[in-house]
Amino acid sequence: MENIKIPDPSWGSDLANIILDLEKLRTKKLGGAVPSYIFFQLKDIFHILETLGSARIEGNNTTLAEYVEKIIENQDKKDESNDEIKNLNRAIEFIEENTDEATVFNRAFISQVHKILTKDLTPPPNGEGSLYPGDLRRHSVSIKSSGHIPPSPLVLQNYFDKFVEFINLPHKEQYQLLMVAVAHHRFEYIHPFDNGNGRMGRLLNYAFLIKLGFKVKNGRIINPSSVFYTNRDKYYNMLSRADSLSDNDILEWCEYFLLGLKNEIEKIDSLLDINYVKSKILLPTLKFVLERENITTQEFKILQYLINKEDLSMKAEELSFLGIDNSKEKSKIMGKLKDKNIIMPTTPNGRIYTLKFVNNYLLRGVMKVLEQNGFISDFLNKNK
Ligand SMILES: Nc1ncnc2c1ncn2[C@@H]1O[C@H](COP(=O)(O)OP(=O)(O)O)[C@@H](O)[C@H]1O
Ligand SMILES: [Mg+2]
Repeated sequence: MENIKIPDPSWGSDLANIILDLEKLRTKKLGGAVPSYIFFQLKDIFHILETLGSARIEGNNTTLAEYVEKIIENQDKKDESNDEIKNLNRAIEFIEENTDEATVFNRAFISQVHKILTKDLTPPPNGEGSLYPGDLRRHSVSIKSSGHIPPSPLVLQNYFDKFVEFINLPHKEQYQLLMVAVAHHRFEYIHPFDNGNGRMGRLLNYAFLIKLGFKVKNGRIINPSSVFYTNRDKYYNMLSRADSLSDNDILEWCEYFLLGLKNEIEKIDSLLDINYVKSKILLPTLKFVLERENITTQEFKILQYLINKEDLSMKAEELSFLGIDNSKEKSKIMGKLKDKNIIMPTTPNGRIYTLKFVNNYLLRGVMKVLEQNGFISDFLNKNK
């Protein structure tokens, strides 16, 4: 197999402009006004969207609504679709912990991620696990609904080595995003594993964007798989076309993927704005749970007060704003909100509280509101 090459887009083409826009996003200075205890909850939520979406692309039938209920009820029943998503979440966490601008994505790294992702799942043909977790496949495979036949096991090692070499070359800056796009297609084209190639390839995108400096560990949230799951047929068609490996088809693929990525990043970057988060996400979430009578009017007022505070935090003493002066009474009210698990200390054992909207029924409201604001594709809730 020849070395993998990146075709040159023509100067002034749509693709060249998309790359320029993405380069601006890459170096954009992030505001950082969202306090970390709020930011990390939002990030958790986007990890859910990223991993659930990735799992659903190839047949996992769990809907977002069902998954949210499982999280809220903290069910720990043995359930393979659920385990598949949890593995993906662990894999994303592993990637975030182990990737920086100097990381080499060698065979050991890829192998480790593949092991995490297939852990304890039934191997094919019946499940989404692997016969060889972390190792290359030892048999031929075909790809559903595609005429492309991935390389045979005899030459697979050579293809995979070339791939690993390609993703770690010191590509010039203007080729780095093209590398990500070319690599995703090429990884799927090679189909190195017996299963999990789609999930693995999408996780690699996530890892590449961290390495390229998209500040994913430093204030930004990304959800790159949504480029694909918002229209899965398009994703498969574009991959199929690129299977010809002609420069034109590869460039078409790059344009499709990078345009999607740019739109996605621009959209999610609105969550960097604290006022947007307060007025478009958290306050509407609060109204949502009030309407469903999950919280009382008094609780609503307290949480509304908290969200409107500059850093979204408050102490029990501040309940005087409701005309409550007795400090025992104040602690009792805050204690109740804490028992309901909808506030939490901003530091371990601290006495300053913030809103908690993951792992509890507020999550239902957050998802609804994110959907209304165009962050959630119908694909995540469609029954197949
Ligand atoms: N025509 C194609 N050419 C190359 N790759 C494809 C094509 N069609 C689909 N794919 C990729 O194959 C993946 C499915 O492979 P599989 O090993 O079953 O992954 P997973 O188990 O993670 O779903 C899809 O998610 C997609 O990324
Ligand atoms: Mg599969």
